[in-house]
Amino acid sequence: MKRKTWVWILGGLVSALVLVVAGVMLYIRFALPNVPLQSIKVNATAENVERGRYLANHVTVCMDCHSTRAWDRFSGPPIPGTLGKGGEVFDQKMGFPGSFSSPNITPFNLSDWSDAEIYRAITSGEGRDGRALFPVMPYFAYGTLDTEDILSIIAYIRTIPDIHNTPPLSNPAFPMNMIVRIFPVAAHPVQRPSESDSVKYGEYLVRASGCIECHTEAEHGQIVKALSFSGGREFIMPNGVLTSPNITPDMETGIGKMSREDFIKRFKGYDPENYKAPKLGLKDMQTIMPWIMYAGMEVKDLAAIYAYLHSLPPRTNVVVRWKHL
Ligand code: HEC
Ligand code: HEC
Repeated sequence: MKRKTWVWILGGLVSALVLVVAGVMLYIRFALPNVPLQSIKVNATAENVERGRYLANHVTVCMDCHSTRAWDRFSGPPIPGTLGKGGEVFDQKMGFPGSFSSPNITPFNLSDWSDAEIYRAITSGEGRDGRALFPVMPYFAYGTLDTEDILSIIAYIRTIPDIHNTPPLSNPAFPMNMIVRIFPVAAHPVQRPSESDSVKYGEYLVRASGCIECHTEAEHGQIVKALSFSGGREFIMPNGVLTSPNITPDMETGIGKMSREDFIKRFKGYDPENYKAPKLGLKDMQTIMPWIMYAGMEVKDLAAIYAYLHSLPPRTNVVVRWKHL
């Protein structure tokens, strides 16, 4: 073939490729996310609201991220009167690809959202305005919970006191502002396992409470599945580097030697009824493990979590929990 023909063919191929890429970019920019709304309706019985209160404050710990925290004290106890107010910031300094701030989830912001819109935001990460949420909020995990549990949480957050506050919108950095649009997917809920199967029930609670997110090493903000629960995720704190410990049942480097009673006691030790979080000195370790919220978990639920963690394959991983800067 003549050289000129080759140039034409190549030129044509390059133009076609440019068109395809542009088409994909336009599709992502203007057509995604597009998770359909489901026909669901909250049944706000006193029992459902109570179940939702328990989950939102002590298991799925929604209030951990959507309230103001006293970060000058150990584990950042939520400040009374700020429940659901929003405004906690997760930004580049902490290793996030942009600046994300938790929205207000009191009725002040959500009263004109339908139940289906709130359900979709929590379980799929698509906001009411079609905004794709960044999975700081573990919506992939929430999307696998029992629909009844999510509906109870919605019933509860509709009852919390109104707080007038409008935190700034999140601002994902390029290219995450494009990529994030691909993330929202429809929920694929399961039925909550029976409590008599403590390992299965424990697995459900672990999924609901996001343990895996913090207790697994991450690359580019995504956890490495093969290293699940073996710790090693680093968190940059103002005065040091915090690294999550290994919570697989490895005897030497994990929680293999921790008895069920000690595990439960460890959590219950932070019950705000008897525990007052101490003010931190400049060199003290701060933690993002929401001990104070989890402390409200029922003993039977903590026991199930222990049973599940102890059913996992032990993984050896030595972690230095705190390096003071
Ligand atoms: C680890 C922190 C974290 C947890 C836990 C969490 N959220 Fe969020 N949530 C966020 C952040 C951050 C955003 C905003 C993300 C963004 O803008 O990209 C958000 C967004 C939302 C939105 C969308 C609101 C709007 O105005 O767009 C709702 C509703 C919501 N969360 C409810 C909940 C509920 C209910 C739970 C518990 C089941 C929960 N969140 C747990 C951090 C969290
Ligand atoms: C937001 C991040 C985060 C979440 C969510 C989280 N953890 Fe942690 N966890 C940490 C960090 C960091 C530490 C180390 C600092 C400390 O002891 O507080 C820790 C410490 C622990 C310890 C103490 C281990 C030891 O050897 O002393 C246990 C046990 C534990 N977590 C279990 C869990 C379980 C179970 C869950 C889910 C119900 C969970 N964590 C959820 C971050 C987290």
